[in-house]
Amino acid sequence: MQDTFDILVRNAEIVDGTGAPRFAGDIGISGDRIARIGDLAGRSGRTEIDLGGRIAAPGFIDAHTHDDRLLLSGGDMAPKVSQGVTTVIGGNCGISMAPMPRAIPQPVTPPLNLLDDQGGWFRFRDFASYLQAVRAQPAATNCAMLVGHTTLRVATLDDLERPATTAQIAQMRALVQEAMEAGAIGVSTGLFYEPAVAAPTEEVIETCRPLKDFGGLYCTHMRDEADHVITSLEETFRIGREVGVPVVISHHKVVGQANYGRSEETLAFIRRNMALQPICLDCYPYTAGSTVLSADRAATSTRVIVSWSKALPQFAGRDLDAIARELGVPQDEAIRRLDPAGAIYFRMDEADVQRILQFDETMIGSDGLPHDASPHPRLWGSFPRVLGHYGRGLGLFPLETAVHKMTGLTAKNFGLADRGVLKEGAYADLCLFDADTVDEAASYAAPIAAARGIDTVVVNGAVVWREGRSTGARPGQVLRRQAGGH
Ligand code: ZN
Ligand code: CU
Repeated sequence: MQDTFDILVRNAEIVDGTGAPRFAGDIGISGDRIARIGDLAGRSGRTEIDLGGRIAAPGFIDAHTHDDRLLLSGGDMAPKVSQGVTTVIGGNCGISMAPMPRAIPQPVTPPLNLLDDQGGWFRFRDFASYLQAVRAQPAATNCAMLVGHTTLRVATLDDLERPATTAQIAQMRALVQEAMEAGAIGVSTGLFYEPAVAAPTEEVIETCRPLKDFGGLYCTHMRDEADHVITSLEETFRIGREVGVPVVISHHKVVGQANYGRSEETLAFIRRNMALQPICLDCYPYTAGSTVLSADRAATSTRVIVSWSKALPQFAGRDLDAIARELGVPQDEAIRRLDPAGAIYFRMDEADVQRILQFDETMIGSDGLPHDASPHPRLWGSFPRVLGHYGRGLGLFPLETAVHKMTGLTAKNFGLADRGVLKEGAYADLCLFDADTVDEAASYAAPIAAARGIDTVVVNGAVVWREGRSTGARPGQVLRRQAGGH
């Protein structure tokens, strides 16, 4: 028995990530693991943190991110660690930075330009070299990465408006095989987006075939989250059944005023199918989405904020209708002049967002876009907003449930062994926070702001965030999925 811990957290209210009621105790950390949990009054630590009754929870796992490049270009991961996130799932919505075995077309095909509008970062010929770069220059958080079907299409097809041929599918399947061998946890699709719309369901199934042998996941930004959302859920479940793997419905929502309220129908449909096959889902806690700017999406939104523009960067952060007025042109012409650009679209119902957040199987994912000039506040605010605004404020769920949705549930669904729970022997990923004050500070008007109420964040036994700033520690690991975790 060691007498001195590396870190000793005293007087914590421990919310262990399983959803169980909190209990009082101390936590002793040795190396990268939790060594002891209990009454450690007689013990000491090289670093001691007295929480005085504040909360110790597992570090949050961001179930849905676009942090593929941030891991390399902004490795302190400030938007993430500042809100208590210690692991990010990257490569979502069909968009991964690797593999890119040939020169990426210019201009960079949207939505891949959400990761890098110049294209220089798409330089990893295979998935192994991308993961090797992340391991060689670790970030502050852990990561687990998906390989994106849209990236595979851009890497393989010359005409994205057609289904892949049998030969092209074989090439994409070989890239999936390579990615899974290298340590990817699954494949993501963005069938909603132009470069993947032409992909029939069969193309996705045949491309994803290698997943079964690796116990990988299929994660999807579905083809349609509006009028045809049920058809898209059916397509998603079919892909999961035919490939023989669990599916993750990314950022579940129903969009467009005509569909307000339909989460009752989608959640009932998801629940019924959960009895038949493994299905997971995540959600971000806002009524606005964010992606590349397009006239279609703007037309079905009640408000649009421009988040970045390559052509007219001075308009980032401004409302589209104000920009159109200032330019003295109709909205469609303003969109044409701003392009390529990103936007924040208000087109969800608050009651739907709350119903989806409350659904017991829903994980929390930010879907933050870290390279936007004026990003959606979900990048910096998602986790504290669930704990503060939705949990403590509106009382959607007890704190223990909110924490479970961002820790234990997520680790189980993604197969991240010894993460997402506070128990002896688990990795020492922790978020220490004040349940009375934790909340987002980011807003649509001022989206770049560290959360309130987060004291200290620990990743693999190293303190990465303390008293409102990054410590400079970069202990992040590349995590693999342990199949059978579902
Ligand atoms: Zn998406
Ligand atoms: Cu996304």
